[in-house]
Parts: sequence; structure tokens; C-alpha cells
Amino acid sequence: MKFMSISEAVRKGKGKVALRGWVYRERGSNKLKFIVLRDSSNIIQCVIEKDKVSGKEWEDAEKLLIESSIEIEGDMKEDKRAPTGYEVSVSKLNVVHFAEKYPITKDQSIEFLADNRHLWLRSRRMTAILKIRSTVFGAIHEYFRKEGFYEYHSPMFQSVQCEGGSTLFNIPYFGNKDVFLAQTWQLYAEPAIFSLEKIYTISPSFRAEKSKTSRHLTEYWHAEMEVAWADFNDIIDYGESLIKHVVKKVLEDNKEELKILERDVKKLEPVLKKKFPRISYDEALELLNKNFKMKIKWGKDLRTIEEDKLSELFDTPVAVTHYPKQVKAFYMKKPKDIKKEVVNGVDFIAPEGYGEIIGGSERESDIEEIKKRLEEEGEKVSEYGFYLDTRRYGSVPHGGFGMGVERLISWICKLDSIKDAIPFPRTVLRYKP
Ligand code: 4AD
Ligand code: MG
Repeated sequence: MKFMSISEAVRKGKGKVALRGWVYRERGSNKLKFIVLRDSSNIIQCVIEKDKVSGKEWEDAEKLLIESSIEIEGDMKEDKRAPTGYEVSVSKLNVVHFAEKYPITKDQSIEFLADNRHLWLRSRRMTAILKIRSTVFGAIHEYFRKEGFYEYHSPMFQSVQCEGGSTLFNIPYFGNKDVFLAQTWQLYAEPAIFSLEKIYTISPSFRAEKSKTSRHLTEYWHAEMEVAWADFNDIIDYGESLIKHVVKKVLEDNKEELKILERDVKKLEPVLKKKFPRISYDEALELLNKNFKMKIKWGKDLRTIEEDKLSELFDTPVAVTHYPKQVKAFYMKKPKDIKKEVVNGVDFIAPEGYGEIIGGSERESDIEEIKKRLEEEGEKVSEYGFYLDTRRYGSVPHGGFGMGVERLISWICKLDSIKDAIPFPRTVLRYKP
């Protein structure tokens, strides 16, 4: 018989089936063995009766431990008491591998599960998250390609900083000291808009973040875009419609997974229906003061606690614009029509306390202004020659943003920690397994 997946079998509803997978749960008596079988698609209860299989098959069945890999054939029917509403009465059993005693049992500590991450990936919870993650990546590609963007790639070994020196990973490179892992593709992306105009990527970024928070990884996946001829509003529009597209896709394709995660999907629905509010940094300070009596001195960056409070006021992401120049990167454009020292930079703050999911800006076009700011940051301007050339030969208005893919997944799935949004999380304290 040809194997089918458990979800195909469930769709079929009854009759003869051949399934293969892993033993998710097992219990039994001297005549009857109940197995919950798991494959990538679903779980299903299987019952093995001593009288209905050969002596060898029954012996094997009795020895089966959790996570053994097996193939079965049998007759399927509806059974309301079974975990997913169906049961297979097994007529043939082939054990592909007898698993050793599985180390993961109930009620284990977060630390233990992290040490056994390679095994924990098999849990229903991680499987559900990984499926949503796959949808998210697919949806990002789909969005940008639909909008006419080219996929473009920057180097991971880089010789200049972009988002501030404090989070750079310095690495040994044949005796050269000034080589860093990419914090962002940006400085290597801007040169390419002169050939491709609209570009995007999804690739790893590296941040030597000392922050041990539920939203910081040292290695994360970064969806970035850069567009020629774009003004500040265009960039914010792209960010909003990208998030809407991804959330829509997950709501369409991952109903089962969201249910497994017990995610209240009603909380995600406003994202599709409503326009995201756009407020300035100044307005954000007013809102924080008015609603929470939080007084923030103008010029200070918004901290996690302030972003979280702000997010309580909205049921969609909110785009905060026009931050003070001193808290943002050197490449952000200073608007001509605003007197204050602000920049055309935007952070999208996710609802429900998930923090900044997108950071972007219109890019400064004035080469002297860029040089000045690099000097203020203590950078060697000569190292940035290749970048400054973008402002020498046919410079055009342009901008872009970066979206932290695990931040987005954390929010969509409402995870306690960003660590569960990626298969093998890397943080200050963890680089194993
Ligand atoms: O705001 P950031 O630092 O912006 C840039 O890197 C720009 N050069 C992007 C661009 O314009 N092309 O980072 C962008 C996003 C943040 O909004 C956040 O979602 C995510 O990257 N991010 C992190 N995610 C997980 N762990 C970390 N340590 C992160 N640091 C930033
Ligand atoms: Mg940022």
C-alpha cells in the first residue's frame, strides 16, 4: 500500500490506510496497545490488538518506546474519544527503529529543553511554530516579488559598521582586525539600487547584543528592502503592506497551528482591517505622558518599557516617526521642513508588547552631512568611500527598512520568548547545541 500523511488520512475519514511516523505517546495492557502516531502533518491514535497481528508484531509493539519510527497499515474510523477524532485499527506493524528511552518527558525546565533543542524540535508546539515560520518566509518573498523587487545579496563579512559599533561581532580574518559580521545589508544594498532600483533580501544579521531580553538574539533573520526614487511615506507604506500580507497569509494557511499554540486570532484580525496609526516621536511622548504619566526627556530613545506601554494603546502595529537625530543611525535623512533635530526614521512597534519589528528610514542624500555624522560617531570616513560613492554618481532619493523576522513570528504566535521563533537560538548565553 502507498503511504499517506496523517492529515490526508483524516481527510479521507475512513477505510484502509498506510501511515508512517514516530510514536508520540504509548500505553497498553497485555492484550491492547494504544499508540499515538505523529508525522509532520498531524497525530492519530492507533490501536494494536494482540489477536489481530502476528506474534512477532505483538512482541515488537510491546517493546515500542516514545519516538520509535514505525510503519503501519490498518483500518481507520471516526472515534470521538481519540485525540484528533480518528482511530486506526492496526493490521500490520513494521518497526523501522526502536528508539532508546527518550530524555524529554513532561514538566521539564526551559533550560533542559534548550539543551535538548535538537529533540524538542519534534514537539507539537515547535512543529507548529516552525510551520508558521515557513509561511512567514514564503510570504515575505511573495510580497516583494509581487511588488517587483529583485532578490539581492550582501556579504556577511563586512569592513564597516552601520548600526553602531557597540553591537558589532569582530571576527578573526587572516590577521585583519577590522572585519565584522553583518549587522545589516544596508551599506552594501544602497549601491545596488542604481542597477536594480527595488531590492530585498532575507538573510541572517548578527548583533553582539548584551541584552538578555525576550526579544534579542545574537543571530537573527533580517528581511530588508531598499528602493530608489522613494520618499519617506513610500517606505512606511511598504512596511505596513508587508506586515499585512504576512499576517494574512498566516491566518489563511496556519489555522491549525495557531490553534495548537492557543493564539487568539481575533487579536490579529485588526491588522488586516485597519490602517496602522502613524505618530511622531513627539506625539509618542505626549501619549506616554497622558496615559501612563511617563515623562520622557526629549532626545531620549524609547526604551522597551515605553514601547510596551505605547503598544497597549493600539491593536495594530504603530509607526513612530521623526525620532531625534542623536538616537538614530548616521544615514537617516534630516527633513528640510522640520526645524527640530529629527530624522525621517520610522520604527514599527508591534501590539501586545512585542516591541520594534521594523526599523527603517529615508536615506540622507547630502554627502557632507553623512561625513559629518560619521566623524561625530568616531568613524574613519575613508573606510566608507564605497558607500559615499552612492552620493557622488547619480544620487537619487531612496530609503529602506529591515524587519526582524523572529520578532514578527514571536508576535504572530504570541511567544513568551523570541528564542522559540528560531530552531537553534543564539543568545549571549547560548551557542549550543
Ligand atoms: O533597527 P535596525 O537596527 O535597522 C537596521 O539594521 C537597518 N539598517 C535596516 C534597514 O534599513 N535596512 O534593525 C532592524 C530590525 C529591528 O526593527 C528588529 O526588528 C530587528 O531588526 N532586530 C533584532 N531582532 C532580533 N534580535 C536582535 N538583536 C535584533 N536587533 C534588531
Ligand atoms: Mg531600530
